[in-house]
Parts: sequence; structure tokens; C-alpha cells
Amino acid sequence: FKIKKPYNEPIYSYLPGSKERTDLKDKIKELKSKEIEIPLIIGGKEVRTGKVNKCIVPHDKEHVLATYHMAGEKEVNMAIESALNAKREWDNMPWEHRVSIFLKAAELLSGPWRSTLNAATMLAQSKTVFQAEIDAACELIDFLRFNCYYLTQIYNDQPYSSKGVWNRVEYRPLEGFVFAVTPFNFTSIGGNLPTAPALVGNTVLWKPASNAVYSNYFFMKLLQAAGLPDGVINFMPGYGSEIGEYVLKSEYLAGIHFTGSTKVFRGMWKTVGENIDKYRMYPRIVGETGGKDFIFAHKSADIDSLVTAIVRGAFEYQGQKCSAASRAYIPESIWPDVKQKLLKEISTIKMGDVEDFSNFIGAVIDENAFNKIKSYIEYAKSSNEADVIYGGKCNNNKGYFIEPTVIVTNNSKFKTMKEEIFGPVITIYVYNDNNLEETLELCNSTSPYALTGAIFSQDRRITVKMQKALTHSAGNFYINDKPTGAVVGQQPFGGSRASGTNDKAGSMFNLLRWISPRAIKENF
Ligand code: ALA
Repeated sequence: FKIKKPYNEPIYSYLPGSKERTDLKDKIKELKSKEIEIPLIIGGKEVRTGKVNKCIVPHDKEHVLATYHMAGEKEVNMAIESALNAKREWDNMPWEHRVSIFLKAAELLSGPWRSTLNAATMLAQSKTVFQAEIDAACELIDFLRFNCYYLTQIYNDQPYSSKGVWNRVEYRPLEGFVFAVTPFNFTSIGGNLPTAPALVGNTVLWKPASNAVYSNYFFMKLLQAAGLPDGVINFMPGYGSEIGEYVLKSEYLAGIHFTGSTKVFRGMWKTVGENIDKYRMYPRIVGETGGKDFIFAHKSADIDSLVTAIVRGAFEYQGQKCSAASRAYIPESIWPDVKQKLLKEISTIKMGDVEDFSNFIGAVIDENAFNKIKSYIEYAKSSNEADVIYGGKCNNNKGYFIEPTVIVTNNSKFKTMKEEIFGPVITIYVYNDNNLEETLELCNSTSPYALTGAIFSQDRRITVKMQKALTHSAGNFYINDKPTGAVVGQQPFGGSRASGTNDKAGSMFNLLRWISPRAIKENF
């Protein structure tokens, strides 16, 4: 049984007068007009704990979209029980039927649910229409369809059998449940982390990021509408530290599928280490964490594409993509030209309410993010090792707005060249053209991360040299393109070092982590 390799979901353009634009605008209005209540969903049932929090609109912070209930110890235990109960049938369900559910989910998202997921993502996460479309619609649809395709590739691979012997591999799910912990910045990752392990027969406890509970809840409802059996994925918003504490101590923990901060991931790994004697199996730990992604230009770079890559790579979605460009290395010889074009290009960026489709960037996610990003900008402003050559203004009167900001430093190890900021800020280090090798080594060693990186060169000899020097600096490496926007099925995504376990979301590498194969030999 095979599924044809899917095509990527086409990106809608939302041009004025188009039906998709009207539908989306209507949906935004509808969602904004009512505050909803979001329960936990455990074993298919709505659970209300009374311990609640609010979902707000980051670009219009007084606007409340929802009140959501949060899980505690009791609900975690209920969810574990429900996941283990659901597993018996789910695991034994012919895999074609599991695939059918997720393919149906992709169809629903491609059609009637598209505007809901996009509108919810625009409102709750302050994404522009384009950023929501490539995330909550296209990438999430691609994750669902491509994972189904990769599953058939895995299941169809069987070992060689000799005369009188039948060898086979049984692709069993893990023994226990998987804990999916998802971030605010991509609704698609919110959807992928619980569904990928579930597709291959696992059952899941899903803790969405508090700032994405709103959009992630609609995805959970979509999965139910696609026929996902009760208990296969249990939706549990709440405080990560509290939920994690109970989940990670369960003897049935079989895997963690995480995207979020390096600090939290390391903390979870340590807790797993402390509890290692409790578990029935060594939990599979898959994580995508921080980044300090770079753009490195050679003097042969095409300057227009370099400038576009800096602007789009650093500022789209307010720099809150784990893949966002946040440091750049530019040779002295081309810097005056790059600077002039860069400042001109940034001055055309419109920032504001994402419900106005002409804005290019919206607000950052919340007060904490706003304060953290602002403190980095203030640090640069007050330092004699750096100049803020563009932006730097922060305003949280109506929403959490931070101007696209460019810092130039003469210290290659300046704080903002090293640390993850997760906001619309890029730091540029201008290097002497004669120091290419040394500067490549600086790029390789300045930050502990290795998620994405981009080089710009039109000289193939130099391209080869740069690619080699930066071998372990990025899990996703771009030549003459921005470091963001990996496409499922085209550039499997993930990084190493402090950026994660590099198990490539939306790929066979990832699905294999949720499978515990049994090799069977039978003599005739
Ligand atoms: N997959 C996302 C990107 O490449 C994070 O930008």
C-alpha cells in the first residue's frame, strides 16, 4: 500500500476582492465578537477545572478572546489513564484507518476550517495574513499529508528473507504515552508535535503554549471533527512546570516531543534523568529549542538578494521564528551599499494591527517578550561597542509593538551577537574582507546554537569553503536565501547543538523516533 508523494499545499494570496479574503475578514470579525471558554479535552470529554487564564490579542491587549481552563495533578492523571486506555484500540487499528483520519484533517483544514485556523492565529499570535497562511494552513496541512506519506514508506520497508525463513519488522508504537509540548510561534508545530507520534499508533498528552491555546484549541476541535477517537490526543493547557512535574514522573512516559526554549528542554531532560529508574522504557526525547541564526555574506554576494534576506529573515513575524536571522556578518567592501539599501528597504516596513492586511509586522507575543527584547535594545543603545542604526522604539500602549531594529557592532562577541532575543532585532558585524576564514570561525563558535544559517556568495569556490567551515553551525543551511521558511517535504527542519536533537519535523527521521520496531524471524 503506497500513498503518492503529496504536493505542498498552495498558498492563497488573499487579494482584495477574493473570496478567501472576504471569508477570512468575516471569520476575524466573528471570532473577535465573542469571548469563548476553552476546556481541557481529556478522553474526548470537556473538563473544566476552574483554574483559569485568558487568551488576549497581542496587538490589542485589552481584547480578550477566551478564558481557558488549566490542568493540575488530577487532570494529568486522568489524561494519562485516558491515553493508556485509548492506546489499546488505537495501536491495533489498521494503520490505513489512522492515516485516513489525518488525511481527512488535512482536507478539512485545506477547506472549511482554513479561515478559522488562520483567523485564530492572526488574533492570538499577531501573525499577518501571509504569516498565518504559510503556518496554520499550508505548513500544518503539509505536516499531516507528508507524515502519512512517510509512514507508508517506513511500513513498506521490510528485511530480506532467505529460504525457509520469513523475516519481518513490526513497526510498533512506543510502550506508554508521548508528551507533546508545543510553542506559541507556529500553529503548525502545535499541530505536528501531537499528531506525528499519534499517526504511528501512540497516544498523546498535549500541552500547548499558553499564548497559542486559542488557535491550538480550534485544531483540536478539527481533529475531533476528522474522527480522531477519544483519548488519542488529550488537550491540556496549563503551567508547563506544574504539568511537567506530574507527567515526567509517570512510569508510562515513553516519549517527549518538544519545541520551546533550551532552558526548559534541558530541565525536562534532567528530570527524566532523575526518574530514569521508574520508566518502563527509555523515553524518546525529541526537541527543537533555541537559535541564534546567521546570515554570512561574501563580497561576491548579490546585494539585492542579501538585503531582502536580512529584512525578511530578521523581521517577518517580528523575528519570533526559531529560524529568524538575528546576526549577520558583512564584508567591509560591500557594507556601504548593503547599509544604504537595507535602511531604504526597512523604512518601507509597515508595523501595526495585523487585522489591517497591509501591515508587514504585528506585535510581539506578550509583556514578557516585550520587556526582554526592549532590554536588549537598551543594552545596545547604552554600549560603546554598538550603534542602533535603525528602529529601537518600543511601545506597549495598545499592543506589544517593537520597531524593526538594526544594531551594528565592532565586537564580534557582543551580547546581541550571542544570545537569543526572539524579537525583531538583528545585529551586524562588519568584517575585514581579508579575514574571511577567521570570521567564518567566529560565526561557527560565537553562539551555542546551530539551527539555521544562510550564506551569500556568487563565487562557487567560496561557497564550498563557507559551507565546509560552517558544517555543524546549522541544521538548515541556505545558500543565497533567507534562513527562514523551510518547507515540509523540501527542507526537513531542525538543528543540533543547543538548538535540539535534529530529528527533522515532518520527515521520516522524526516518525522513526515514535516507533519501536520488533524484528521477527520465523522458520518454516
Ligand atoms: N520551519 C520554520 C522556518 O523554517 C521554523 O522558518
